[in-house]
Amino acid sequence: GLHLTVVKHNEDMSQAAAERVLAQLAQRPDSVLGLATGGTPVGLYRQLQERKADLSKAALFNLDEYYPLPRRHPQSFFQFMKGHVYDPLMPLSYDIPNGEAEDVERECTRYETAIRSAGGIDLQVLGVGRNGHIGFNEPGTPFTSRTRIVALKRETMEDNARFFGDIGLVPKRAITMGIGTILEARSILLLASGAAKAEALYQLLKGDVSPDVPVTALRLHPSVHVIADEQAASLL
Ligand code: GLP
Repeated sequence: GLHLTVVKHNEDMSQAAAERVLAQLAQRPDSVLGLATGGTPVGLYRQLQERKADLSKAALFNLDEYYPLPRRHPQSFFQFMKGHVYDPLMPLSYDIPNGEAEDVERECTRYETAIRSAGGIDLQVLGVGRNGHIGFNEPGTPFTSRTRIVALKRETMEDNARFFGDIGLVPKRAITMGIGTILEARSILLLASGAAKAEALYQLLKGDVSPDVPVTALRLHPSVHVIADEQAASLL
């Protein structure tokens, strides 16, 4: 089932999210966590630092990475994770799709196998795109999709242009876990903050389950917790 918590501000969302991640780690220190990038989870990662979360036995995987983009590029998701999570929180291990892999197909297979070998994801943290995308699974993606290379929609490139300075510098493709991959996580924590996410959240809770709005796939999952601030929840 789907459980919704509405809180007042972005900071409250991050705090409530940190509680859930800390509870997961308390229950199972060697948890496998699926993590996300973007503006939404930044407060969660800061909270985990402040609260001295112990990730020394935890294995981390990420949803996605731009392709092609060198790891050392300041806007790669690898660098984002290094700054917000890997360096400050020192997990036992981490893995993220390789944006500079020469053989992309092989990289996607490697990634799926790595997740499976780790025992599968216990808790997957998700944000949501303005158009309802999860990871980089854009509208129209089959719910059975696996890790693969995808083309980004114009609106997604526009939303991410702020990080690259100019839309012309945003990579046009990415490697992303599929919706099928995401749905295999044992539990899912979806975070949504700000008015730009209100429509996507409305679709998740009240719309039809349809690949037109990828986030609605979560209605098919047994254990989803949504934490939204008042602005994101304003259409509910
Ligand atoms: C990107 C990421 C998603 C993220 C979304 C929303 O496209 N691939 O995983 O959820 O953006 O980003 P933000 O949290 O910055 O709004």
